[in-house]
Amino acid sequence: MRVDIISIFPDYLAPLDLSLMGKAPVALTVHDLRTWTSDVHRTVDDTPYGGGPGMVMRPEPWGLALDSVLSPGARLLVPSPAGAPFTQKMAHALAEEEHLVFACGRYEGIDQRVIEHYAATEVSLGDYVLFGGEVAVLVMMEAIVRLLPGVLGNASSLDDESHAHGLLETPVYTKPASWREHEVPAVLRSGDHGKVARWRRDQALLRTAARRPDLLAALDPATLDKRDIAL
Ligand code: ADE
Repeated sequence: MRVDIISIFPDYLAPLDLSLMGKAPVALTVHDLRTWTSDVHRTVDDTPYGGGPGMVMRPEPWGLALDSVLSPGARLLVPSPAGAPFTQKMAHALAEEEHLVFACGRYEGIDQRVIEHYAATEVSLGDYVLFGGEVAVLVMMEAIVRLLPGVLGNASSLDDESHAHGLLETPVYTKPASWREHEVPAVLRSGDHGKVARWRRDQALLRTAARRPDLLAALDPATLDKRDIAL
């Protein structure tokens, strides 16, 4: 997979070179948007039409940057609190792409004509506002890259994890069996694989019902089996 990230703070993206990310099958290039400015101050922003607080990123540097970086068929993503929610499903879809380009906005955002001209997809991490798109790109890249073939040691862990089947993950335990008078649930030590699987499924359902009733409501009823506990 090829990934290009355009930002006025390329140093923010340095963690992408660390650990797993550094070993992933990704050809990553981080670009400084100011490379595509021509004035002495390397200006990337201006006041908003119609008034209001803050500054807006000018379209010209973005146009030059994107003309230079986008390939035919590349997918352009713009992190924004006004975007569509970024989900595990979206991460799976993006992990299939050949070329991803992330355009990181700052200030009040990028001039909307840039988004429209390049048919960019605006994506939001959640209902809160960050200073800019850089941290959102770190999050999205980690979610996408760990789905690429060969990145995770144990691919079956992808199947069990939170959101894999629209449910939250079950609680997990390791040794010792007793710690500060807290015991590991006996069923997990029973050696009965059927009972363990049933318990895990129940825990996932109970947790999802308690913490994320929205996920439970969105669950396809066909994925429930008749032994699932009534919630
Ligand atoms: N940029 C600023 N806030 C953001 C958010 N919540 N998600 C994605 N990008 C953002």
